[in-house]
Amino acid sequence: MIEPRPELENLADYVPGKSIEEISARYGLKKVVKLASNENPLGASPRALMAYQEIASTLHMYPRGDAPELIAALAKKAGLSKDYVVIGNGSDEVIDLIAKAFIRPGDRCLGMEPTFSMYRFSTLSVGGFFEALQTGAEKPSLDQLLSLIDSKTRVVFICNPNNPTGWYFTDKEIRDFLAKVPKSVLVFVDEAYAEFATAGDYPQLNQSLDEFPNLFINRTFSKIYGLAGLRVGYGFANPKVIKELWKIKPPFDVNRAAQAAALAALGDEDHFQRTLDVNVQGMAKLSAAMEKLGFLVLPSQANFICVKIGPEAKALVEFLEQGGVIVRGLTSFGMPEWIRVTIGLSEENEFFLQRIALWGGLRG
Ligand SMILES: Cc1ncc(COP(=O)(O)O)c(C=O)c1O
Repeated sequence: MIEPRPELENLADYVPGKSIEEISARYGLKKVVKLASNENPLGASPRALMAYQEIASTLHMYPRGDAPELIAALAKKAGLSKDYVVIGNGSDEVIDLIAKAFIRPGDRCLGMEPTFSMYRFSTLSVGGFFEALQTGAEKPSLDQLLSLIDSKTRVVFICNPNNPTGWYFTDKEIRDFLAKVPKSVLVFVDEAYAEFATAGDYPQLNQSLDEFPNLFINRTFSKIYGLAGLRVGYGFANPKVIKELWKIKPPFDVNRAAQAAALAALGDEDHFQRTLDVNVQGMAKLSAAMEKLGFLVLPSQANFICVKIGPEAKALVEFLEQGGVIVRGLTSFGMPEWIRVTIGLSEENEFFLQRIALWGGLRG
């Protein structure tokens, strides 16, 4: 039997949120509400759906690997030139490209946990070591992370706002950190949820990629743009970094339909604004209701809330699933007493709260 590379032994399987189909089949349910994977509850933008349908007649043709229209639109929106932009098959692939291009076997990468698991996964998959500051629910200081950087450190991953806790680093905190990090260390700032952030001091880093040539800003079409199923992620960085990623990027990874829909979604400001409104209102309502019931809810700048349930969190997740609500239990994130709840449509949030009330009632 052929032996896999030894580093694969340390790789645990990715734990995704459960799907509607899975829960509906397991419990024989007609109605299932999914508040588990931070998707857009309004769905994709109508303009993206139209572009997706229109592209159907040309699906026999390969996509343009250089995605000129999408790259140009992303660059324009960010106020950058095209050589500052890369795309990938979801930001999962962008993270993987970073690992392949910059992490050598034996290199050390840093992050903070709990956080999104792909930083650790991609680092290990290319033979690097991943070390994380263990923060629990608390927002750490970036100085703590800085103190861990040594001569073997290659990439530092910062999720901002952080998944699953929802806290964020300010513009000043990130800039102070970047000013102190050696330029040989790439700072990967994952802004998958940036568009949801309402704080006035949330970072605006697009125009600082020359000042900080070791900064990479990650973004995605999976969250606010509602295209998680099509898989389009993108990133901004100094052309010296971007150029290396294009060298190893599979040429046709972002398919024709994905390019067309992403381009249309980017131009749909109505849908963008509606999504933000649904999020702001839903977050206020859900947070207040959970707090009223006595739960600790972390302040969030994303499209989810992180709630402390206590030792019964796992039982609650199962109870909710049986009643047709999927939320994310956080055991795989190292927070077994917490759940993460994606902000849904008002009726979905209501359904979740009804099930929570029933659970409270059953437990007296
Ligand atoms: C922080 C963070 N980054 C990246 C991703 C991956 O997104 P994509 O769908 O673009 O691969 C996720 C997905 O949940 C995420 O939470």
